[in-house]
Formats: sequence, structure tokens, C-alpha cells
Amino acid sequence: MTFFQVEKLSIAFGGLEALVDVDFQVQKGTIFAIIGPNGAGKTTLFNCINGIYSPDKGLITFNGQEIQGKKPDRIAKLGIARTFQNIELFSRLNTMENLMLGRHTFMKSGLFHGAFMWGRRSFAGREEVTHRRKVEEIIDLLDLQAVRDKLVGGLPYGTQKRVELGRALALEPKLLLLDEPSAGMNSEEKQDMIFWIKDIQDELGVTILLIEHDMKMVMDISERILAINFGSAITEGTPEEVQRHPGVLKAYLGEDEAVGDIT
Ligand SMILES: Nc1ncnc2c1ncn2[C@@H]1O[C@H](COP(=O)(O)OP(=O)(O)O)[C@@H](O)[C@H]1O
Ligand SMILES: [Mg+2]
Repeated sequence: MTFFQVEKLSIAFGGLEALVDVDFQVQKGTIFAIIGPNGAGKTTLFNCINGIYSPDKGLITFNGQEIQGKKPDRIAKLGIARTFQNIELFSRLNTMENLMLGRHTFMKSGLFHGAFMWGRRSFAGREEVTHRRKVEEIIDLLDLQAVRDKLVGGLPYGTQKRVELGRALALEPKLLLLDEPSAGMNSEEKQDMIFWIKDIQDELGVTILLIEHDMKMVMDISERILAINFGSAITEGTPEEVQRHPGVLKAYLGEDEAVGDIT
């Protein structure tokens, strides 16, 4: 059974066809990248996968189950988490609190209710202890100890991106969608991000769908790549195949104008 599969996925906004018959398959445990110029439809694809948009047509199958059109919280419960192109965190909460919020889909007794209302020995109290333990593991994995009690709004951009990654991991996803995780980072921060993503793949066995503009990063870490433009697939293949595909070169370098950044 294919771990994750998209078939003939299409969605239009008014007259604009944002995705047209997009097809691809992702094998378990791999890193699969989606590239394409700005406006190609990459984020729209993620929005269809995690239920923010309901596609007009097509199938999205995760672990043998069709998920297209399901609500975002249902899809999250099935084990699909994401980060956003523009960081979406609670800037006035600290790192620990943001990661605890990432676990809300697991919480039976309501967020932060436990320890305050009923004490540590109650069910809610024990439940919170379990969640905190899980979150501490993520803090260790992503090396966030130094900022665990700091308000997220005041952290450097690269660190906020890492906290957002942690919040997604707090859901214990089987499939993780990363929308431009290295956007706006300097080269050292980008190197770090590559390291964290590899770690998540290797140590947690999470399958990763990655939207990324930095071509070097994409070539370094992905097993397979889907290139799209104007909502349609240009090609899908290994980094070597995609890199030298004429349609990909044209989409990025364009004959009349450069429409995206290639680095
Ligand atoms: N909710 C929406 N309403 C109208 N148009 C949208 C909406 N979401 C995305 N689009 C359009 O779909 C196209 C693809 O956008 P997007 O998926 O964000 O591109 P990318 O992430 O590849 O840069 C763009 O032309 C964008 O303006
Ligand atoms: Mg986008």
C-alpha cells in the first residue's frame, strides 16, 4: 500500500486554476520535495492535504484512507501535521506553552486544565504530566532548552521557525508538511534546519513533504521531487532527474523573465 498518494487533484479559485490534475506518491520514511515558482500552487496543495481547502476534484489517500475534504482537526488526528510559510505561533506564550498547544488533539481533559484544577494525582494531572514529558523530548531533540520559558515573540526568526517545527512534532505526526522551512534564514540557520529535518526523518521515522525554494537544500535532502508550475506538474523524479529537466530550467529561468528564485 502506498503511504501517501495524491491523484488528479484539482482546485480553482474563481477562474484561476490553482491545481490541475496533480498526481504523486510518497513512500514511507522518505523526504519528498515540492518545488516551483511563486504562485505555482505549492501552498494550495498543502492546504488541500491538511483540510484547509476542500479540492474540487481528485483523491488524497493517507495510509489507505481517503482524506480529501475532511476537516483539519480530523486530518491532524490521523497524523498529518504542518508548519506554515509565515510562522503561526502564539507570540505571547513561551516555547513550552506553544509546544503544549501542539498536543491539544490528544488532550482529553482540556488544555492546562489538569494541574491547576485537580492536582497532580487526578486523571487530568497525570495526563498533563505525560504531555509535558513528550514535549520535553521534542525540546531536547530540537535543542530548545535555552528558550523553553521565553516568550516566542521575542525570539530570533530562525529560532521561531524551530519552535514551529516543534509544535508540529508535538502532534506526533506520521506525515509532516513543511512550507518553506528555511525561508528568511541566513546560511548558518539553513544548515541547522537541514540538520533538524534529517534528524526528524532518521530518529523519529517521520515522512516529510517539503516545499522549499533553496535548490541546494532540496537536492541535498530529498529522495524525490515534484516540480509544478501554474498548478500543473512539470515532472517528478530524483533530484538529478528534476534538476536537468528542461521544463524545470525554463520555469525557473524563464525565457522572458525570471519568475522564481533558484539558488
Ligand atoms: N484562497 C484563495 N483565493 C484565491 N486565490 C488563491 C487562494 N489561495 C491561493 N490562491 C491563488 O492560487 C495560486 C497559487 O498560490 P499558492 O499555492 O500560494 O502558490 P505558491 O505557494 O506555490 O507560491 C496563486 O495565484 C494564488 O493567488
Ligand atoms: Mg507558498
